[in-house]
Amino acid sequence: MVATSDEWIRERTGIRERRIAAEGETTCDLAEQAARAALEAAGVAPSELDLIVVGTTTPDLIFPSTACLLQHRLGANGCAAFDLNAACTGFIYALASADAFIRAGAVRRALVVGAETLSRMIDWSDRATCVLFGDGAGAVVLAADSKPGVLATHLHADGGYKELLYNPVGVSVGFRDEPNHGVKVMMTGNEVFKVAVRTLDAVVEETLTANGLSKSDIDWLIPHQANLRIIAATARRLEMPMERVVVTVDRHGNTSAASVPLALDEAVRSGRIRSGELLLLEAFGGGFTWGSALIRY
Ligand code: ACO
Repeated sequence: MVATSDEWIRERTGIRERRIAAEGETTCDLAEQAARAALEAAGVAPSELDLIVVGTTTPDLIFPSTACLLQHRLGANGCAAFDLNAACTGFIYALASADAFIRAGAVRRALVVGAETLSRMIDWSDRATCVLFGDGAGAVVLAADSKPGVLATHLHADGGYKELLYNPVGVSVGFRDEPNHGVKVMMTGNEVFKVAVRTLDAVVEETLTANGLSKSDIDWLIPHQANLRIIAATARRLEMPMERVVVTVDRHGNTSAASVPLALDEAVRSGRIRSGELLLLEAFGGGFTWGSALIRY
């Protein structure tokens, strides 16, 4: 479709494979599978949920939210449900929000999902972006407990970088249906790369300092899976061997808000992450948005 090579993609990004949703398959379809798996793992029935938050940039519809569609599919009707758009940082933002509801005492059990079908808004003739993104979903269930699992979250945004990474299609800017206008990710990749590395360094440092931790206290780094070179740079900053970094970008590509929960899920289900270990989750994405979550598993 475009002038590229498997070698270029592997060397510049670390991506070898990715998943694309089937025709007709939506973000909510993927979210439902992830949500059911998470509820089963947690031993929580949908009727026990007080809150559903879905981090997504690719909702099924403008409204109702994907969280509302998902709530009905699960049969959790009645609980609070909303979507949250923070691009690739969507899951970290969703996790932080649900955690805040729980800490405030407003919610006892929350389902937090990161789900995307970015393939739906890719310009397949743009080699700079069409080789990067994949579809997927991941989910966790949070529950109020005297011993918190989510120790801290740190969220940031800087709207001054819009031109480097955005999708020009919108509602209030007006719909346009000329061919090749919009419905596509616009990205100045190498500029995004530089800011991402610098910003993730800063948020990792902030997380360690704010929580009185040293680099060696972190057992696992679970980063947003945009590019293996960005992941490796953050790992170097933490003086962390790559064996302690969860990498799925090689098989998933960049699944935006789904990437961190997919990586977390894979590491937990494979038995690599053990009870009591300290996890550092981080992400960076359009907005720009970025953030981290410190979790005692
Ligand atoms: N195949 C072959 N060549 C390509 C391709 C391709 N698919 N894409 C770009 N090139 C070319 C460019 O045209 C350029 O050629 P030139 O030197 O002749 O001009 C050359 O490769 C180098 O291009 P760069 O953009 O400088 O390549 P870079 O090493 O920066 O890699 C990439 C590009 C993979 C996009 C990288 O910059 C990146 O990962 N950026 C960060 C992406 C990211 O983190 N996004 C945030 C999350 S996404 C979200 O929020 C939705």
